[in-house]
Amino acid sequence: MVSMANSCFQLLLFLPLFLMFVSLEASRFSSNSSNSKPSCIEIERKALVEFKKGLTDPSGLLSSWVGNDCCTWMGIGCSNQTGNVVALELGNLGDCYDKKIGYAPATNSSCLGGEVSSSLLNLKYLNYLDLSMNDFQGITIPNFLGSLEKLSYLDLSYASFGGMIPPHLGNLSNLHHLDLFALSSWVSNLNWLVGLSSLRYLNLGYVNLTLASTNWLQALNMLPSLSELRLQNCELHSLPHSVPNINFTSLSVLDLSDNNFNSSIPQWLFNISSLLDLYLSLSYMKAPISDIQWGNLCNLRTLDLFGNQINGDISELIRGLVECSNSSLEELSLGSNQVSGQLPDYSLAHLQNLRNLLLSNNLISGPIPASIGRLSKLEILHLSFNQMNGSIPDSVGKLANLNVLALYNNYWEGALSQNHLQGLTKLLSFTISSSNNSLIFNMSHEWVPPFSLTEIAIRNCQLGPIFPAWLSNQKLLVDITLADAAISDTIPYWLWELSPQIYWLDLSYNRIHGMLPNSLVFLSAFLVDLSFNRLEGSLLFWPDASNLLLASNLFSGSIPMTISQMMPSLEVLDLSGNFLNGSIPLSIGKMKRLEMLYLSNNHFSGRIHDQWRDLPNLEIIDLSKNNLHGEIPGSICSLPSLSWLKLSSNNLSGEVSFALQKCKGLTMLDLGENRFYGNIPKYIGQSFSSLLELRIRDNMFSGNIPAQLCSLAHLHILDLALNNLSGSIPSCLGKLGALNSMISYSPHQLSLSDAIYQQMEMELVVKGRQLIYTFTLELVNIIDLSSNNLQGEIPELITNLSTLGTLNLSHNRLTGKIPEKIGGLQRLETLDLSCNHLSGPIPSTMSSMTSLNNLNLSFNNLSGPIPSGNQFETFIDPSIYEGNPELCGPPLSTKCLMPNDRDADANQHAKAHKDEDENEDENENENENDNLGFYLGMALGFVVGFWAVCGSLMLKKSWRYTYFGCVDKMKDWLFVVVMVNLNRLRRRMMGAEHN
Ligand SMILES: *[C@@H]1O[C@H](CO)[C@@H](O)[C@H](O)[C@H]1NC(C)=O
Ligand SMILES: *[C@@H]1O[C@H](CO)[C@@H](O)[C@H](O)[C@H]1NC(C)=O
Repeated sequence: MVSMANSCFQLLLFLPLFLMFVSLEASRFSSNSSNSKPSCIEIERKALVEFKKGLTDPSGLLSSWVGNDCCTWMGIGCSNQTGNVVALELGNLGDCYDKKIGYAPATNSSCLGGEVSSSLLNLKYLNYLDLSMNDFQGITIPNFLGSLEKLSYLDLSYASFGGMIPPHLGNLSNLHHLDLFALSSWVSNLNWLVGLSSLRYLNLGYVNLTLASTNWLQALNMLPSLSELRLQNCELHSLPHSVPNINFTSLSVLDLSDNNFNSSIPQWLFNISSLLDLYLSLSYMKAPISDIQWGNLCNLRTLDLFGNQINGDISELIRGLVECSNSSLEELSLGSNQVSGQLPDYSLAHLQNLRNLLLSNNLISGPIPASIGRLSKLEILHLSFNQMNGSIPDSVGKLANLNVLALYNNYWEGALSQNHLQGLTKLLSFTISSSNNSLIFNMSHEWVPPFSLTEIAIRNCQLGPIFPAWLSNQKLLVDITLADAAISDTIPYWLWELSPQIYWLDLSYNRIHGMLPNSLVFLSAFLVDLSFNRLEGSLLFWPDASNLLLASNLFSGSIPMTISQMMPSLEVLDLSGNFLNGSIPLSIGKMKRLEMLYLSNNHFSGRIHDQWRDLPNLEIIDLSKNNLHGEIPGSICSLPSLSWLKLSSNNLSGEVSFALQKCKGLTMLDLGENRFYGNIPKYIGQSFSSLLELRIRDNMFSGNIPAQLCSLAHLHILDLALNNLSGSIPSCLGKLGALNSMISYSPHQLSLSDAIYQQMEMELVVKGRQLIYTFTLELVNIIDLSSNNLQGEIPELITNLSTLGTLNLSHNRLTGKIPEKIGGLQRLETLDLSCNHLSGPIPSTMSSMTSLNNLNLSFNNLSGPIPSGNQFETFIDPSIYEGNPELCGPPLSTKCLMPNDRDADANQHAKAHKDEDENEDENENENENDNLGFYLGMALGFVVGFWAVCGSLMLKKSWRYTYFGCVDKMKDWLFVVVMVNLNRLRRRMMGAEHN
């Protein structure tokens, strides 16, 4: 799955090398020619020596700068005729930039830095200056560069200049090429550009143009010769809708991606008839497809609209493009928008020059048209994360140039045979999954594929029951996902043989059995995921795997005491849901790179050692459902990154208030089902400001519910049930921020999370039944204070919690009335007030609670008629109301009494008391259901909190970097990577509940 990210990485790695090659070629050329000419001019030599003095050069890149003939020095170019220095090519020497961005070990710096001496002014004939990919550590670009009047080429990209870009550069009237990409610089305006009348190439990417935001376009419009304009990520906020006279008559490349335009696509863009490549990705463009004048784009090669809010019908787009007699389009990227409709069969075939069709993560439906086979130049086809269905047409097999076929996460049906893949001789990556598990792989056993893949991902398909033999000759595989693919087999020899080269192995959710062979070696595995299988025997550990997921298998034995030496680079370890025993090894405390540790649902015993000091990255600790005892060690909360602490269902005990004091960064705290005691610490409310979920259910906590908890602005789940809490319910709970309002998303998050929501079908296996819950926000908001000794009234303010999904106050000693405004809990699905001393009528506002489907008011002293109409039509089970002798009306058999029928009323009361014993069994069942609700809520709470509140807090850091670090054409692809990882994360989180 990550191979594209890999190649992206490699690209970055090799780019500097390539450029170095180019510059070496250039200097060889100039030094050759200088052989026949007089050596360099003395005043210029001195200027260069002076310039070198100002620089820092720790790795001696300029060591050749000695002797008299400066024209032979590294990076210097001289004129054939005069011997004047004309070029200074000091970009890309060494691996400075690689080290800066972390792609090469940051040992000795090979960057040029220091200061840029004004002695360069003596190089009167300098026309080429390249200082790119060095590290000038934030110094400003010297003003005097504006006086190098012969300069035609200036490249300062990636060189860590900072501050304001000097307007003096506007004096360089001969400049053709100006590259200031990725400086941490800003401009106060762009008026100085008017002086650059010869400019053909301008790159101001990542320069902060906020202050020029209102008239940037007018300023650029003054550059008549401009052919390439790159303004990626310039913090531009406005894209003028109409411009009087667009002068861009030569413009062929326009990159405005990663800006914040928040507007529709202006029509003038489509009138620039010279345009070949248009990049508008991730720039908050909102537009229906019908707004775009596709017919004007007949010269366009690249149209990149990735990650915007384009909606409308994809067929309209393609029909529009086909209006051109000969479409030149080579790349169409519309990934991560809201495009819908079906791919048109007839017109698609007219896009004869199409090489990349990137449509992932939209709302496209329907089948792949058979005409796809006529796009003979197609290299990349991305249709993942849509709602496409039908069977895959045979004609896909005709795409002889196809490298990448991405059909992940749609609703494919039918059979996939070797005919579909037979012609794909250049295929490198094939990913497919069918959300309804209806795609059947039907390859003959002898088939030998014509391609050699580096990546295969098949998920949610009928691939098994044995491992596909046709993969056995794929010797270059690096990324392998065969998950939820109905495989009941042992892992074949050919797959183990590949293990040294494997980067990504996901065989989760099958019925793979057997033991792990000792011969298995992973030398460079980023991920090994064998979870949810039937593997048995003892664990194996591989020194170079960084994510090891073996959850929910039959592994037994214990974790070796020396695990930190066996797996020094481990970042994620998931061993939950096995039969492991023994203690949690002390040496886990030495696994410095550990980020997530899941050991839940095993038989681990002993104490949790005080071993949590040297784990700077550890974010998640889940030790729930084991037999651990003793107290929470104080060092856990000294972990600087800890965000999840789950210790539920153990035999842990003690007073928590001291141990938890420093856990301020937690988003989730679960101490449920243990024997902790003492008061709920007030500081949780005061300083755990990121907390989404607080669960201390089923312990021996006592005292009041501290009002401080009300200030937890993001809390979605508050579960204090089954303790000895007393006092009243703080009325300020009605002000809990997250339960008061729906979370508002910024447009960008929305498009991302929308797609994720489609993914988030929650699967829960409870008592053998598989229940699929579709993601809804309401479900995640829970307050459960049941089974305590709470007294007093239900605070009226609680009815403000407009997004609350579950409210359980049962089994307390609450008195007074049900708040009249309870009908304000419009999203409440479950309300349990049973077994209290509530009196008075059932408020009639409850009949408007249209989400409510689970109500229990039994065993109180409620009186009067049961409301009728609306929601109450559905509450026909009399047990909802029983034990309230003074309630009357349907569904109870008690008729509502006239005021003088008091005697009959008293009889009814006596009968109800007799019934109480008989009801106990039933109550137990209810408790189990509560649990289900709770677990469900907990999981969902994580997901919502994760995306809505914390952003990518939980997403593993390296994945985060993969996505954000390399934002280019691979974006569609990486999005898939993130999605898949997210799935895994979700699943891991659910894993504990499965068992
Ligand atoms: C320098 O010499 C080469 C051939 O040796 C020639 O092609 C080139 O045009 C010359 N450059 C100038 C600026 O005269
Ligand atoms: C860009 O410049 C504006 C105005 O000077 C400033 O408010 C903003 O914070 C800057 N953006 C960044 C990312 O530094």
